[in-house]
Amino acid sequence: MPENALSISLLLPPGTSLASKLSHELIEHLPVGVYLCNAQGTVVAYNHKAADIWGESPNLGESQIKFCGAHKLLTPEGVHIPHHQTPLAEILVTQKAVTNFRTIVERRDGSRVPVLANIVPLFDSDGTMLGFMNSVQDLRQQVAQELNQQHLENALFQSQKMEVVGQITSGLAHDFNNQLASMSMGLSLMEREVEAANSEKLRRYFDLCKEAVERATSLADNLLRFSRKRAKKLERLDPNQLVLGMTSLIRTAVGARIVVNLDLAPDTRFLKANKQQLESAILNLAINARDAMPDGGTLDLSTHDANLDRHNFPGHNANFQPGSYVVISVIDSGCGMTPEVLEKVFAPFFTTKEDGKGTGLGLAMVRGFVNEMNGQLTIESEPGQGTCVRLYFPSYGTEHSQAVDGADR
Ligand SMILES: Nc1ncnc2c1ncn2[C@@H]1O[C@H](COP(=O)(O)OP(=O)(O)OP(=O)(O)O)[C@@H](O)[C@H]1O
Ligand SMILES: [Mg+2]
Repeated sequence: MPENALSISLLLPPGTSLASKLSHELIEHLPVGVYLCNAQGTVVAYNHKAADIWGESPNLGESQIKFCGAHKLLTPEGVHIPHHQTPLAEILVTQKAVTNFRTIVERRDGSRVPVLANIVPLFDSDGTMLGFMNSVQDLRQQVAQELNQQHLENALFQSQKMEVVGQITSGLAHDFNNQLASMSMGLSLMEREVEAANSEKLRRYFDLCKEAVERATSLADNLLRFSRKRAKKLERLDPNQLVLGMTSLIRTAVGARIVVNLDLAPDTRFLKANKQQLESAILNLAINARDAMPDGGTLDLSTHDANLDRHNFPGHNANFQPGSYVVISVIDSGCGMTPEVLEKVFAPFFTTKEDGKGTGLGLAMVRGFVNEMNGQLTIESEPGQGTCVRLYFPSYGTEHSQAVDGADR
């Protein structure tokens, strides 16, 4: 007899049948809290996970009304549910299953555990209700992850907004400065004429203009200084290690319904970029992919090297330099884009998402960053066929990354 089988039998009263030992063992090892009540609502069995959720063990033989009455149930919004309105009380009357009931258990010490409950009535062969089984899923980890994700997205949104506000301000200030420089030049040429005219009135008007141009120039200078990006630290990055390091964050961000696959070429070269900006760009693309797959799908993250020239790389922009590039691809099996949407995706504030969901700054920011790194960005997409975004960075040095074992981690 295996060692653990012996310990099971020790936990159970003598004479317990094998079937009941098995069901006892099965319930104990379920990843959810389970407790069974008889038709009078008396707790007759429970597992340790259930006790962990409630923060204490019920006394077997105690009425569940008494046990559960010692704890409050709240709606997910935090509103107290009177005990006679809880599904536990109702099932004794209605004898109907309650599925996916999301609630919060408030323990005696005031701590709260969000849970998902499924309650099924149990009947004998005559259709008489014997009791019910309540299986309760602990959602603490899931809720914490949801909150984390929310914080992450808010932070990303803020930084994107500031990035684009900075770009717009700097562009405007730059144009103003150019105009003001022409006005200053014109005024200094005019000054000699004003002096020669020897008119006090003219001199006063002229000085007014000169002062206004000087003030405007100093204002534009300040704006430029405010929006000028602080030099970001560039470092040598191993694309495979970078993607691997982000995988669990990406999995959390896209949710369980999307399968994340990695295809990292073992000998990819290094690239040079700011790590936070590159991570933020990949996360942006992954979140776009998630939004394109509301019913789930696949997200493939891949890396490889490519030697690009003007013939084999049609997607180049004006700064394109032929040579060796590191390619990071983010490919989804989502809804894809029509040619009309594809044409506008880089325009700041262009979004097809409902109000409050998208700022339309994600791809504008990703492209701005890739351009700054002297890289290239391509998007291929068709409605219903998914989307493939590739980021190309000039490879840095001749070193290659380490072999990466396991295609999907
Ligand atoms: N992977 C994708 N699949 C389908 N459509 C996409 C994808 N990525 C981007 N798009 C389209 O491009 C638009 C612009 O994307 P972008 O990332 O710039 O902004 P957003 O996602 O709408 O908002 P934000 O990223 O600022 O929250 C999206 O609204 C969507 O219509
Ligand atoms: Mg986006």
